[in-house]
Amino acid sequence: MSNILVVDDDTNILEVIRTRLEANGYYVEMQSDPLDALECIKEREFDVIVSDIRMPQIDGMEFLRRVQRLRWDVPVIMLTAYGTIPSAVEAMKHGAFHYLTKPFDGKHLVMEIEEALEERGRRREPAAGKIGKYFPGVYGVSPKMKALYPLLERIIESDSTVLIQGESGTGKELMAQMIHYNGGRKDKRIVVMDCGATPGSLIESELFGHAKGSFTNATESRMGLFEMAHKGTLFLDEISSLPLDLQTRLLRVLQSGQIKRVGDNVMRKVDVRVLGATNLDLKEQVRKGEFRLDLYYRLAVLRVDLPPLRERREDIPLLADYFLQTFARRMRKDPLQWGDGVMEALSASDWPGNIRELKNIIEAAVVFSEGGTLSMEALEWAGFSEEESQQFLLPGLAGLKPAEFSLPEYLERQERALILTALQENNWVQKDAAEQLGISPRVLCYKIKKLKIDTASTPI
Ligand SMILES: Nc1ncnc2c1ncn2[C@@H]1O[C@H](COP(=O)(O)OP(=O)(O)OP(=O)(O)O)[C@@H](O)[C@H]1O
Ligand SMILES: [Mg+2]
Repeated sequence: MSNILVVDDDTNILEVIRTRLEANGYYVEMQSDPLDALECIKEREFDVIVSDIRMPQIDGMEFLRRVQRLRWDVPVIMLTAYGTIPSAVEAMKHGAFHYLTKPFDGKHLVMEIEEALEERGRRREPAAGKIGKYFPGVYGVSPKMKALYPLLERIIESDSTVLIQGESGTGKELMAQMIHYNGGRKDKRIVVMDCGATPGSLIESELFGHAKGSFTNATESRMGLFEMAHKGTLFLDEISSLPLDLQTRLLRVLQSGQIKRVGDNVMRKVDVRVLGATNLDLKEQVRKGEFRLDLYYRLAVLRVDLPPLRERREDIPLLADYFLQTFARRMRKDPLQWGDGVMEALSASDWPGNIRELKNIIEAAVVFSEGGTLSMEALEWAGFSEEESQQFLLPGLAGLKPAEFSLPEYLERQERALILTALQENNWVQKDAAEQLGISPRVLCYKIKKLKIDTASTPI
């Protein structure tokens, strides 16, 4: 029996709908508060959701967005009073399945639900699989991503080590999180170690911990990341940077399931699933003698090769839309639309920095967007150029006409874009961003306030 959730603050309407749907053989659950409804959606599966568009707690659009974040594959039918049709149309643009204008004929509602159930069947095709449902960010409809799904489902169910390979910015870390948060260890931690960013001499004690007095600064004994990740997952990013001697130690740990803190003699049992990532071809590193073959085999029991964005162009519109709406929301703008030619330009680009580059460009372009549209100009101001070979220009200097902006306005936009980029590149650590920009942290802090830059933004 199909499970339908109906959300409306008007309990009379709820009753009418319930009677009708039950008479047609559906199981119906009703909620008058959308926030309660979201809690139910987290806990239970529904086949179709029917929701009013105007509700006092949160409006139907916001409700729709939150539902989509939780369950992308459940069709949502919106109910609208005569005056709110424009918002219903807007809701359709953002993925609502359909809308009905109140008062509506019960027969129509049943017909819509039938259609929505069919649609749900299509959305749940094995190729799209569970992946999208679990983790709305990592979707893809391109043949290369679809080909990965059956493998990913097996990876999620298993407990073996996994090697994730892909160019920079293809989503390796996100993939590691997806694997962790959907697998059997999801209630425990995923601990991340960036082997590329940690000096070789420190990696050993970071990973395995150390005993008191084992080296000059070891005033206390300390637990390493392996122990912290006990019963959970350890994500070793840039694993190709691991020095050879540590590769040997890591292999031993993987084989024995035991670690020894530096300067200690006690063997400690650890139960950790290891996921490794690299943007180099690890096999090639093996050939060059820089990576141990036996460790390679041990790690690559399961291997995910994330395709570069240029080999999965079909996914660019999906990802771009996702980033557009996410950043619009975060910058408290109304939902944005794509201007003429923008999606074509985005889809045609080669994206050497892959998804990260696409995401950063869209974030900056959202800052420049005006009047509910993200135009080609905004994209160019954000630093996008259709000519890969174009030399480095301050974003926006190309093709700008003086009449479009006053000089101070233009400079302010440039300043904002540069600051935003520096903050992003430095993980929002203002001190580091200030250094990169060649200004003092105090001046940066002042500018952030003046330009109203939202520092609550963090990477998605
Ligand atoms: N499928 C996706 N949906 C939404 N966002 C994504 C997706 N894949 C990647 N991203 C975003 O793109 C950025 C880069 O992803 P991530 O850090 O996982 O890449 P990476 O392969 O680890 O890159 P690097 O090799 O540079 O470390 C992140 O901000 C991430 O949130
Ligand atoms: Mg990474």
